[in-house]
Amino acid sequence: MPMIPEAVIAMLGCARIGAIHSVVFGGFASTELASRIDDSKAKLLVTASCGFEPGRTVEYKPLVDEAIKIANHKIEKMILFQRPGHEVKLNAPLEISWDEVVSIAEPADCVEMNSNEFAYILYTSGTTGTPKGIVRDVGGHIVALKWTMKNIYNIDTNDIWWSASDIGWIVGHSYIVYAPLFKGCTTVLFEGKPVGTPDAGTFWKIISDYKVKSLFTAPTAFRAIKKEDPDGKFFSKYDLSSFESLFLAGERADPDTIKWAENLLKVPVIDHWWQTETSWAISSNCTGIEMMETKYGSACKAVPGYDVKIIKPDQTLAKPNEMGDIVVKLPLPPGTFPTLWNADQRFKENYMTNYKGYYQTYDAGHIDDDGYIWIMSRTDDIINVAGHRLSTGAIEEVLSEHQSVAECAVLGIADKLKGQLPIGLVVLKSGVDKNNDTISKECIQMVRNQIGPVAAFKVVIVIKRLPKTRSGKILRGTIRKIADNEEYKVPPTIDDPVILNEIKEDLIKHNILHT
Ligand code: COA
Ligand code: AMP
Repeated sequence: MPMIPEAVIAMLGCARIGAIHSVVFGGFASTELASRIDDSKAKLLVTASCGFEPGRTVEYKPLVDEAIKIANHKIEKMILFQRPGHEVKLNAPLEISWDEVVSIAEPADCVEMNSNEFAYILYTSGTTGTPKGIVRDVGGHIVALKWTMKNIYNIDTNDIWWSASDIGWIVGHSYIVYAPLFKGCTTVLFEGKPVGTPDAGTFWKIISDYKVKSLFTAPTAFRAIKKEDPDGKFFSKYDLSSFESLFLAGERADPDTIKWAENLLKVPVIDHWWQTETSWAISSNCTGIEMMETKYGSACKAVPGYDVKIIKPDQTLAKPNEMGDIVVKLPLPPGTFPTLWNADQRFKENYMTNYKGYYQTYDAGHIDDDGYIWIMSRTDDIINVAGHRLSTGAIEEVLSEHQSVAECAVLGIADKLKGQLPIGLVVLKSGVDKNNDTISKECIQMVRNQIGPVAAFKVVIVIKRLPKTRSGKILRGTIRKIADNEEYKVPPTIDDPVILNEIKEDLIKHNILHT
């Protein structure tokens, strides 16, 4: 669904009758939607005729039709919202229009639920191509999210709150739809982008028009505005007297962007850290409790409910300032995921096994002497592209299916706008005489078709061979450092160090690495 009221109505309709919903982001390809239909065993599918992206209209019906065709599980009914001027043909009786459903619908009472029943499933990238269905229970969800509105965000019932994300992501579930409504304040739903719809002043216009008190978005959105309007010319056209704070999350907030936003807005800019798994912030400056000093580059301190620790590779707890895996001592607070949809064992093995008694976040970093948490990197293959969580392993799975590709590596390299961007390195099977450019284009198209445009996958380089350890492990971390022009050590276990120079030359040739 695009970002239209009907999307929220459909979610809340499910909540009212006790049905579980699973919202799928519009930027995913049919295959991704199909895997979610199969895993969730959804009975009903709700969609719209199209979504609007800057410069193009995304026709959803063909994407949905294709997903239904690919999926093994068969849905029983499709409700489609016809966007004015973009009506599509529906095939009765399986497909029915939103308006028709509304015209024949009878009022339905709220259904009472047990607190541990499930409200929704939200699929997120895991370490393989199979997405993980994060589930949310009803009771903990309401308790935690309502608490956060006042205590973290300092929002009261009469306030106007805006989360500029998409309902297909956790930020959208928690902070466009549920938390503001649990609190009883007003929430803004925006179909558009920080730039290009129509310009870099859109955010300021909305804040001014609706008297928004606080905005929550991803750092990428502010990097995009900063790039288009570095001097804040658009900003100066609007009255932002209602505006009190800006919250950023979803990816690392670079100090430059935070300082730029602070200078422009003259309000606190708060970086806070959380995950789809938790549904609310693990660390933040809790503005409704007590404002703490900002340390640029840190996502502040653990929020009440989370006991955050750092564990070193030798399984001992780190001292202040020592790097390690970031974990949360069990039990987790209300609102965090009780399990994965139909995958209890995967839940335990993935998150609760490596460090006994702790939830493994798969983020790495340190806690300083003052208790501030510094999130430095992921410890798995997840990368963060414009605040969107993607698995490089899933992209590699797609590239491996190309008939000319013998092996490949996908890594997230630093990008000034989107934080990270995936690039693919492929080694061809011997005897392939196809043009390298053609192979690159085909690989890019395969990822777009199988994962979706959201992957922003635009670079594939054909290389001679991949650097590996003697046991055959591809040195993705070292390649990433080379691509980002960071210092790197040649790992002692490397099979053939010359390959690193070959890769460096390839990256220079393709304008990825600028020396
Ligand atoms: N439906 C269909 N396609 C979508 C889509 C949706 N809901 N959302 C994005 N896409 C497509 C885009 O059209 C684009 O396709 P393209 O390759 O044909 O251009 C692709 O997915 C990548 O989209 P996006 O990441 O939005 O990049 P962009 O270059 O179009 O825009 C920004 C750049 C910075 C403006 C944009 O990334 C942005 O607004 N970021 C804010 C971050 C954010 O809200 N994150 C959510 C998590 S909190
Ligand atoms: P998602 O589940 O899509 O919300 O992505 C969660 C991941 O995004 C986290 O595990 C982090 O890697 C990253 N992330 C979220 N917020 C922050 C932040 N404030 N600083 C650094 N990384 C973040």
